[in-house]
Amino acid sequence: MNNKSANESTENISAPSPAKSAITLTVNGAKKQLEVAPWTTLLDLLREYLDLTGTKKGCDHGQCGACTVLVDGKRINACLTLAVMKDGADVMTIEGLAAGETLHPLQQAFIEHDAFQCGYCTPGQICSAVGLIQEGRAQTADDIRELMSGNICRCGAYPNILAAIQQAMRAGERSALR
Ligand code: FES
Ligand code: FES
Repeated sequence: MNNKSANESTENISAPSPAKSAITLTVNGAKKQLEVAPWTTLLDLLREYLDLTGTKKGCDHGQCGACTVLVDGKRINACLTLAVMKDGADVMTIEGLAAGETLHPLQQAFIEHDAFQCGYCTPGQICSAVGLIQEGRAQTADDIRELMSGNICRCGAYPNILAAIQQAMRAGERSALR
């Protein structure tokens, strides 16, 4: 078969695009109804659909923790999570932690301990630390280091991040005793 006849016999077949799915999420206390493609990650949904760009994209491969958010109270990597899998979930991002003008105790502690330099990892560090404290498993500094090891800080602010988390944990314990 010559080239001409080969081209003539080629059919132009394109696969149908998968349909978008309607999902409902509660994001930082507000109900959101969205139509998302099956491959849209929760990270892209937050950043591209909802303009919540506080949650950062670092590696996009589950290796840096910059995209950490809380879903139904548990910390997860939003870059590894398909949005359609979280239909009906409650999502908390860094934008939802403060109560009006009052910073979340961890946000305040990060400022007081100078726990960032460039700040790119900071939203993920803070959301992860919120999850860590809620889990209640960290008793020692080594526990905190271990349980925060999924959150990479390329600026090396680890001692300050540890101090900030310890301060927030102590403050939480004091308020629980009152
Ligand atoms: Fe999700 Fe790095 S961007 S873990
Ligand atoms: Fe720069 Fe952590 S403050 S990466």
